[in-house]
Amino acid sequence: MPGSPVPATRTDVRPAAGKLGILTPGLGAVATTFIAGVESVRRGLSQPIGSLTQMATIRLGKRTDNRSPLIKDFAPLADLSDLVFGAWDPIPDDALQAARKAGVLESRHLDPIADFLGSIRPMPAAFDNKYVTRLSGTNVKQGKTKRDLAGQLRQDIRDFRSRNGLDRVVMVWCASTEIFIKPGPQHATIEQFERAMERNDDAISPSMLYAWASIMEGVPYANGAPNLAVDTPALQALAIDRGVPISGKDFKTGQTWMKTVIAPGLKARMLGLAGWYSTNILGNRDGEVLDDPASFKTKEESKLSVLHTILQPEMYPELYENFSHVVRINYYPPRGDNKEGWDNIDIVGWMGYPMQIKVNFLCRDSILAAPIVLDLALLSDFAQRAGMKGIQEWLSFYFKSPMAAPGLQPEHDLFIQQTKLKNTLRHLMGEEQITHLGLEYYQT
Ligand SMILES: NC(=O)c1ccc[n+]([C@@H]2O[C@H](COP(=O)([O-])OP(=O)(O)OC[C@H]3O[C@@H](n4cnc5c(N)ncnc54)[C@H](O)[C@@H]3O)[C@@H](O)[C@H]2O)c1
Repeated sequence: MPGSPVPATRTDVRPAAGKLGILTPGLGAVATTFIAGVESVRRGLSQPIGSLTQMATIRLGKRTDNRSPLIKDFAPLADLSDLVFGAWDPIPDDALQAARKAGVLESRHLDPIADFLGSIRPMPAAFDNKYVTRLSGTNVKQGKTKRDLAGQLRQDIRDFRSRNGLDRVVMVWCASTEIFIKPGPQHATIEQFERAMERNDDAISPSMLYAWASIMEGVPYANGAPNLAVDTPALQALAIDRGVPISGKDFKTGQTWMKTVIAPGLKARMLGLAGWYSTNILGNRDGEVLDDPASFKTKEESKLSVLHTILQPEMYPELYENFSHVVRINYYPPRGDNKEGWDNIDIVGWMGYPMQIKVNFLCRDSILAAPIVLDLALLSDFAQRAGMKGIQEWLSFYFKSPMAAPGLQPEHDLFIQQTKLKNTLRHLMGEEQITHLGLEYYQT
């Protein structure tokens, strides 16, 4: 079900008036790092590093025009001062306790905003430990059917909106990765989906209930985890029906982000690939959840698809046929959120000579993810005000497994994704596309 190629122009975009609510299913490491960072920026204590919407510029017109405003000055995005946060989590900790437990941010960053974080308490979650086996929680909704639970989520969204006097709301999934579920007949049409919710079908996971509730309430939904959630024909059709932008899946942060930088470079030079071995050690709760093979399977599928799509072995069999691609995540508690990743890349050059690239990435998962949550929230809201609905492929820059129209290969190359993002902003704002042809500079 394709999203609509809306020919909006500057005048079509509704202004970002009033407050924007950001709801996150999940108030763990990523969500609290995101919220704490925004508050810290609002108080002038930090810089929003890693956020395109806050720091990147966009070139308009010819290179000689010298017009490169900040994206946030070009497109009418919600201002950070207008953001209001809310969350659901089966663990009842408020955002301050959750941030301290996550151990991402230090006291020197949390203490000055402790009052603010302490005021954000999670609403009871639609949670079932069948789908995230390593967790159990007490802050959980009760309901006879999954449809009841989804109805309660809708009510939560309405209450959040009215309690805070919000103009608009967006939702970004920051909760745990659920077990692997294959799309089935339950996800084919909205009627089948709703009947499956009513009979508590196992194929309907909690993340799908949030996604359904979000779309029914006209709230754009971005999926930060690899589980299906909104990536089903039923919910894609519903999103188009209801005029709601949706995007996913799985924030592109550490190792996969690196892959989408390096692999296009190899292909651009027509260098071959014999194999790519990636391994990680990670000690946060996400690592613990992913230690369950069923949740890891969902993540693995998301991570594995990247290289094939970028390298196109079917088009370049001499270079990329049968390369070996292995991805491991090892739960190793001492590291907490400070993941360490190793990549060994066996590449092939002129006359078949082998070479190797080694990447040792000492990253901080949630520090890389937090600005992505901010950008997705602001850009999803902007998309809705610009009349966009359904899959927002132009946001694939932010995802490991970008959603795309049926039958369409998603684009994984980070630089094509960046061009697509900026060109979509230009398009929606009625500016000319930039082709990088540049011959006009040499015509006398
Ligand atoms: N940090 C990264 O770099 C990164 C990258 C890509 C994807 N992700 C994904 O983002 C998600 C969040 O990561 P994290 O590090 O914050 O994990 P986390 O474990 O710290 O937080 C997840 C939170 O979600 C809660 N939760 C689980 N099921 C829920 C439900 N049904 N409703 C509401 N809350 C629920 C958990 O109780 C937990 O507090 C994970 O799915 C992870 O795979 C993270």
